[in-house]
Amino acid sequence: MSVQADTVRLVEEHVAIEPPDGVAVWDIDPYGDEVLADLPAYYGELRARGGFVYLSRYAMLACGRYRETKEVFSDWQRFVSSRGVGLTDFKLQKPWRPPSIILEVDPPYHARTRTVMTRVMSPRAVAELKQAFQAAADTLVDRLLSKGTFDAVPDLAEAYPTAVFPQAVGLTEIDTRRLIDYGAMVFNALGPDNALRRKAMARGPDVVPWIMEQCKRERLAPQGFGADIYAAADQGEITSDEAGMLVRSLLSAGVDTTVTGLGSAIWCFAGNPAEFDRLKANPRLALPAFEEALRLTSPVHSFCRTANQATEVNGTPIPQDAKILCVLGAANLDPDQWPQPDRFDITRRPIGHLAFGVGIHNCVGQNVARAEADALLTAIARKVDAIEFAGAAVWRPGHAIHALDSLPVTFRAR
Ligand code: HEM
Repeated sequence: MSVQADTVRLVEEHVAIEPPDGVAVWDIDPYGDEVLADLPAYYGELRARGGFVYLSRYAMLACGRYRETKEVFSDWQRFVSSRGVGLTDFKLQKPWRPPSIILEVDPPYHARTRTVMTRVMSPRAVAELKQAFQAAADTLVDRLLSKGTFDAVPDLAEAYPTAVFPQAVGLTEIDTRRLIDYGAMVFNALGPDNALRRKAMARGPDVVPWIMEQCKRERLAPQGFGADIYAAADQGEITSDEAGMLVRSLLSAGVDTTVTGLGSAIWCFAGNPAEFDRLKANPRLALPAFEEALRLTSPVHSFCRTANQATEVNGTPIPQDAKILCVLGAANLDPDQWPQPDRFDITRRPIGHLAFGVGIHNCVGQNVARAEADALLTAIARKVDAIEFAGAAVWRPGHAIHALDSLPVTFRAR
């Protein structure tokens, strides 16, 4: 299919808007291989062109400065999620799967499911997992130290969350590959129907029925986030079907994201040995270091919103129905918000970073992600003397996720 034909079809996925007055027109494909191969360069160009740019190929807007991105991402009244957080406007086109009943809905309905999920993954609930998370982290780091040199993507970043998270949910059948592939489908589905999306979606027939099966009550262990969600159905707070859909949300959003965040944190330390020395000297910096790695690398690099009304953001007119690509990765590196934004500084405490989102949809699983990172980075800080690159790090193109594909490293024991 020609590029032209592809473009015309894509624009039919959402309302094609005209460039608003004063907004720079940019003929770039933010979902193209070239851009996805070097996101930081694209982030800088995006910010330099203004608060918003008009993406002519998609007849939509994009923002990457901190101020605008935060405003669009957090104002659910003007910029809704119910029309999809990817390129497709659910008002115009049926999504590839039934929409998420937490991520892709607006208030008042959102509060119904969000309340359940907030309680199920409350700090108290997550604190109960601390010991198990730490034991698994210690075991994994010992194993990696005995290997010495390994690929930190499969052997660490994928190995750790898939060792602890499915158990925390209460899955009784754990298929690491399918869990990871489902994440790739969910996040790449947010972009256009290009080769990258098609490749991820091709795994659907194998992966989707398996995922849906694992969300059923009878498949879940009697203890875990899954059982707690179904308990809310017993209380009449949600229906049993909704409970199944919320378990699906855990499996959609809870694996790929943490895998990515942990891999990127190791990449940050391998490239910044002095910061690793600071972590070793004070393992309590594990969590602030993780936050800083999230700010610097933004595992979720872009999600969309749709303007439900004509409005204005920081002086820029926004037409009704506009799709807006909110480039969180660019906002997290905006020099107007972060001094020396490209520096990995584990004592920065980057409060207000957008890696977990902002506003009513902010990451409801962030306590879980932090608990995993805290356990793993603490184990590494205590046991590892040095983290060194053992080959070139390779990034993987993704429509919404900025992840490493391969990270060869050596761990030297203390
Ligand atoms: C480092 C790891 C993670 C990152 C970077 C991350 C990032 C995000 C972001 C950016 C959002 C906001 C989406 C939006 O506003 O449109 C979000 C929402 C969400 N996250 Fe996470 N996430 C992570 C881990 C997790 C985990 C471990 C879980 C599950 C246990 C999870 C479940 C969710 C859910 C269900 C939502 C939707 C919340 C809502 O719409 O109210 N996430 N996450």
